[in-house]
Amino acid sequence: MQNKPVTAIVVGAGHRAMVYSQLAIDKPELLKIVGVADPNPVRRKMVMEKFGFSEDMCFESAQELATKGKLADAIINGTMDEQHIETAVPLLECGYDMLLEKPFAVDENEALLLKECAKKNNSKVMICHVLRYTPFYYSIKERVASGEIGDIINIQMTEHVSYHHLSTSYVRGKWANSQKSHTTMLLAKCCHDIDLMMWIMSETKPTQIASFGGKYQFKPENAPEGAGTICMKDCPHVDTCVYSTKRLYIDHPDRWAFYVWDKLEHIENPTIEDKIALMKSDSPYARCIYKCDNDVVDHQSVLINFESGATGTHNMVGGSSQSLRKIHIIGTKGEIFGNFEESKYTVLKINPSPDAHNEECDVEEVDLMVTGDMVGAFGGHGGGDERLSEDFVKFIRGEEPSLACTSIFDSMAGHMSVYRADKSQKNGGIPQKVEY
Ligand SMILES: NC(=O)c1ccc[n+]([C@@H]2O[C@H](COP(=O)([O-])OP(=O)(O)OC[C@H]3O[C@@H](n4cnc5c(N)ncnc54)[C@H](O)[C@@H]3O)[C@@H](O)[C@H]2O)c1
Repeated sequence: MQNKPVTAIVVGAGHRAMVYSQLAIDKPELLKIVGVADPNPVRRKMVMEKFGFSEDMCFESAQELATKGKLADAIINGTMDEQHIETAVPLLECGYDMLLEKPFAVDENEALLLKECAKKNNSKVMICHVLRYTPFYYSIKERVASGEIGDIINIQMTEHVSYHHLSTSYVRGKWANSQKSHTTMLLAKCCHDIDLMMWIMSETKPTQIASFGGKYQFKPENAPEGAGTICMKDCPHVDTCVYSTKRLYIDHPDRWAFYVWDKLEHIENPTIEDKIALMKSDSPYARCIYKCDNDVVDHQSVLINFESGATGTHNMVGGSSQSLRKIHIIGTKGEIFGNFEESKYTVLKINPSPDAHNEECDVEEVDLMVTGDMVGAFGGHGGGDERLSEDFVKFIRGEEPSLACTSIFDSMAGHMSVYRADKSQKNGGIPQKVEY
């Protein structure tokens, strides 16, 4: 018998929630959006019109929605990081299951509280670790799980955050100031990567973690001589500085558009003049990159010790010329290394016989043929976003979800490792125990 679509209410109708809700348009037999809760009236109206439900299913907040009892099967919670507890807890108490964005909590106490709440209410809470769903990481996970490279001795991960991504999100934007966002850069950006490491290493557990990092580039003393405060208003370097808002956002009006032009979303088709006016205003995205209120790191290295005796590293470097994620896993029988942006990896297997490639190992090149718009940060996380929404439906329906499905309980290892890595970084690199 054909299952009915899972019904869901969007809570926090921002960029991410709308990405996951798109499944209701593409595959209405799987998901039906039946309501929205968001303090922003423009966003409430947009969701209501897009999914065609009536105004009595529009609520001004998660908290207001929670006073109405259970009105659907599930919640798609795309509120900002620091709102996950205040929005998730009352709705889980009502009996909803939930798709919840990462980081699901901004510190250890919140993480434990939410885990307990999910346990107490027997709720299905799935965390949006979209990279697990990309062909690249999914395929590598399957190869490791098959045992073909043996037991893992060491895993090395690298993430380069491009200069335009770093400046938009972590210097000028929403995750630049930890007092405002309540997150660190490692938590906001790399909780995906640390989660991937824990997923690939799921046969063992992290026990200890150490980390170094800091803010290297974007501070007032590094500003070019005579720099202004608003690039397009008072800066003589507006045509030459690589971080000039004119060069980053006016010459490329679609780049990071969903953050930079947020303030113009009440205008149906903002013109370039509207955008130039915003870049001359007090918008946070208009500021000189060296004169912002950023206090998060722009590079950080993490070293992890596992119960099995294996070790792992993650190096996050912001301000690179392009985005890059790399992985190298060394096992007792072979290795896997690859480049996420290219969706290609290599498998080496130890083979001392004379017919092996260069008489020491067999070499297999894997090209997952993920190309064009599907690659990297602009491409729906390499197709991961769509696959995650579909898996959420399976999870809710009680069908067998994929290997990538991340319940809140599965997500604890990565989140707790990030909190302890940040504690180490703030304490001069002193190793911290990881417990969860
Ligand atoms: N999985 C990923 O790869 C990925 C990528 C980017 C962002 N994120 C995460 O997604 C989340 C959302 O990010 P975004 O950029 O879509 O945010 P956003 O700011 O676009 O959307 C958040 C929405 O929540 C609404 N809101 C605020 N308070 C509310 C309340 N009490 N009840 C209901 N709604 C409320 C806001 O009005 C806003 O519309 C964040 O946690 C972010 O870190 C995840």
